[in-house]
Amino acid sequence: MLEELETIRKDALAAIATVTDEPTLEEQRIAFLGKKGRLTMIAANMRSIPADQKKAVGQALNEVRQAITEAMEKTASDLTAKRDAAAFASIDPTLPSRALPQGALHPLSLILDDAVRVLRRMGFALADGPEIETEWHCFDALNTPADHPARNESDTFYFDSGKLLRTHTSSVQIRTMEAQVPPVRVIAPGSAFRRDEIDATHLSAFHQLEGLYVDRGVTLADLKGTLEHFFREMFGSSTEVRFRPHFFPFTEPSFEVDLKLHAVGRAAKWVEIAGCGIVDPAVFAEISRKRGDQAYDPTQVTGFAFGMGLDRLAMIRYGIPDLRLLIENDLRFLSQFSA
Ligand code: PHE
Repeated sequence: MLEELETIRKDALAAIATVTDEPTLEEQRIAFLGKKGRLTMIAANMRSIPADQKKAVGQALNEVRQAITEAMEKTASDLTAKRDAAAFASIDPTLPSRALPQGALHPLSLILDDAVRVLRRMGFALADGPEIETEWHCFDALNTPADHPARNESDTFYFDSGKLLRTHTSSVQIRTMEAQVPPVRVIAPGSAFRRDEIDATHLSAFHQLEGLYVDRGVTLADLKGTLEHFFREMFGSSTEVRFRPHFFPFTEPSFEVDLKLHAVGRAAKWVEIAGCGIVDPAVFAEISRKRGDQAYDPTQVTGFAFGMGLDRLAMIRYGIPDLRLLIENDLRFLSQFSA
């Protein structure tokens, strides 16, 4: 019996030594260690072995099994190593990897994030409203008469339902006052739409940032201080800001805000950047009528509002010469911006 085990060991090791691929190795494993393998058959016969030999045979059996198992494991790992070496033969794993394309935020997102950060620090909370608006929210409640040119079909996208694509984010002023009582201090970034001819400085869909502050005793000084601080945070502490008298139906007095730009190699020039003013009491009167309460009693509360073009802010900050670059999704343009 011991001799037979020795023969099996020799046969197995010899067979394993000639193995050059994994399927053959598996065949040999089955032949010796499988359910009906030569070694397994002997183990199955242990019962018929005389008691005084059992121990010796058992020990030898274990030794042989271990020797065969070890030889097989060694051959298996040799085969794997050989296969890996072959796979690596054609490549150089020490080369640096190819650079992964890295994303960058859109310049509008960068500007918006910055603007929101500055205004939140000043106590403004984010507000929101729909892009498809009612005429009342976009115009009537903002004291804009039916014959105002902005309401013209040629300036505004109307739906058959009578709703429209909001022409400015000022509609969110109304939405906010319908839903909240003073003091309110909100900003509302969002898209606005006008039937403009598209050119380097006009798109039919553009982006605005609206602001509204209503409380008791809000003054023009608060408005000026807020916007001056905002623009200096955005464009540097020496930024010059100018308020020019203007007209908006929903503010009185109203102003346009200009920034003085110093482009390298060019004469400094004033650029219009925002509209603003003191909320017209007529707006508070209409809100009061709609709400049916005195929360916005025009004799008790005052407020200021502003609205600015985010696309314009991005153009100024990044020196973008043509608005259309912002919507063309040309990676050569977009990949230049990172936070
Ligand atoms: N809604 C105005 C515009 O789009 C801007 C504005 C907002 C003016 C708030 C005054 C107050 O031109």
